[in-house]
Amino acid sequence: MFLRNCWYVAGWSHHFAADALVARTILGEPIVLYRKRDGGVVALEDRCCHRLAPLSRGRREGDDLRCMYHGLKFAPSGKCIEIPQQEIIPSTAVVRSYPSVEQDCWVWLWMGDPASRAERCKAVYPPPANDSSSPALSSGAAKSRSDGATTNDEPGRMRRSSDIRGRAFNMAMLPAAT
Ligand code: FES
Repeated sequence: MFLRNCWYVAGWSHHFAADALVARTILGEPIVLYRKRDGGVVALEDRCCHRLAPLSRGRREGDDLRCMYHGLKFAPSGKCIEIPQQEIIPSTAVVRSYPSVEQDCWVWLWMGDPASRAERCKAVYPPPANDSSSPALSSGAAKSRSDGATTNDEPGRMRRSSDIRGRAFNMAMLPAAT
């Protein structure tokens, strides 16, 4: 069980180079992070809503990210904005996006309910880095993997089959383009 409505460190600022796609696992959720052209950090669910391919193996296209399995392209909001050979984009074609803030040379992600973030964090920012009472600094929920990514100690929470069934969709089932 995790504390969700708080900020978690995804890494040092220098971990997120301008042209990099960085995979992290935080609170058991696969996340891909990258920088937009203006330097802002985008954090998206690292699991394509089509066939669950990792978007961290995808390709940056400007501020967007393309899945290289079947080519869906996602905006920084997580919304799919392009499906090859198809004009209609279903509203279900979306991956979760995580609010991010860069402060004190850290990149922080809000892992909880975005509405709660607005309600409880008027200033939006995470706590200062020297605040040891911060859940993000003291929970120990995020640890470094040997490959440099962040993970946690509960492999059973890495993916829930109900999540997968609920999010997957088949392009063949989509309405034909007009
Ligand atoms: S799995 Fe990403 S486009 Fe099919």
